Amino acid sequence: MITETLIQQVADHLRVSQRLMILTGAGISSESGVPTFRDSLEGLWSRYDPAQLATPDAFRRDPTLVWSWYAFRRAAVRRAQPNPGHHALAEIQRRQPQAVLITQNVDDLHERAGSRAPIHLHGNIARSKCAAACRGEPTHIELPIEVSEAESAPPPCPYCGAPARPDVVWFGEMLPPAALTTAHAAAARADVCLVVGTSGVVVPAAHLPLEAKAAGAFVIEVNPVESAITPHADVWLSAPAGDILPRVVEAL
Ligand code: APR
Repeated sequence: MITETLIQQVADHLRVSQRLMILTGAGISSESGVPTFRDSLEGLWSRYDPAQLATPDAFRRDPTLVWSWYAFRRAAVRRAQPNPGHHALAEIQRRQPQAVLITQNVDDLHERAGSRAPIHLHGNIARSKCAAACRGEPTHIELPIEVSEAESAPPPCPYCGAPARPDVVWFGEMLPPAALTTAHAAAARADVCLVVGTSGVVVPAAHLPLEAKAAGAFVIEVNPVESAITPHADVWLSAPAGDILPRVVEAL
C-alpha cells in the first residue's frame, strides 16, 4: 500500500535534490508494449531465448537470424509510444535540470517523451554500425528505413563490406566507455538516486545504484516486483511506473 505520505516524502527528496541520478530499465518501457528480454515472446520468436540471440557469437553463427530479430524489435520500438512513466521522468528532469538520466534501454522513448540527452548504456537499436568496426568503434552506418526494417541478411558496411549490426551492447561486450564514465561519475556524486523498472541483475548498470548509495545517496526504487535493488532502496514504490510516477510529479 503506497500512502500519500510516502509519495510526498519521495517528491520532497526529488525536489530538494541537487545531484539527482535516474536509472531506468526495461520496466519503464513495458507499459508502452516494448517486449523485454525476459518476457516470453509470441509467434515467430517464441522458440528463441533472447539472451542467446544478443551475443557476438550468435551473430557470427547466424547473422541473418540475429539481424532479423533486431528488425522485429526495432519495428516494435517504432510502433511504441512513450507512456506516462516516461513523461513523468521528463517532467522531473524539467524541474531538476541537473538530473542525469541513465537508461539500459535501447529504445528512444525517453527522448520522445522530452527527456534531455539520456545516457544509453546499452546502445540504441535505431542505429546500425559496422560489425568489423572498420573505421573505429563505433563505425555508424546510415541505412534506409526499408532496409533496417526488412527481415533479411544484414546489409554490407559501405566502407568495408563487413555485415552491419545493431549499435547495441551484446552480452559479453564492453559498454560504450564515455557513457559508462558519465554514469559512474553521476552515481558517485548523486544525493538522490531514482531507479525505475530494472531487475538489477545485469552489471555494470546494476552496480550504479549501489555506488550511489555507498556515496550517501537516498535511493528510491519504482518496481511492482521486488528486485535485486530493493534491499538497498531507502524507499520502494511497489507499483507500475506509469501509475506512480505521475502521482510523484503531482506532489512535487
Ligand atoms: N513499472 C516499473 N517496473 C516494471 C514495470 C512497470 N510497469 N513492469 C515491469 N517492471 C520491472 C520488472 O519487475 C523487472 O524488475 O522491470 C524490471 C525489468 O527487468 P529486466 O527485464 O531484467 O530489464 P533490465 O533490468 O532493464 O535488464 C537489463 O539486460 O535484458 C538485458 O540488455 C538488456 O538492458 C537490458 C539489461
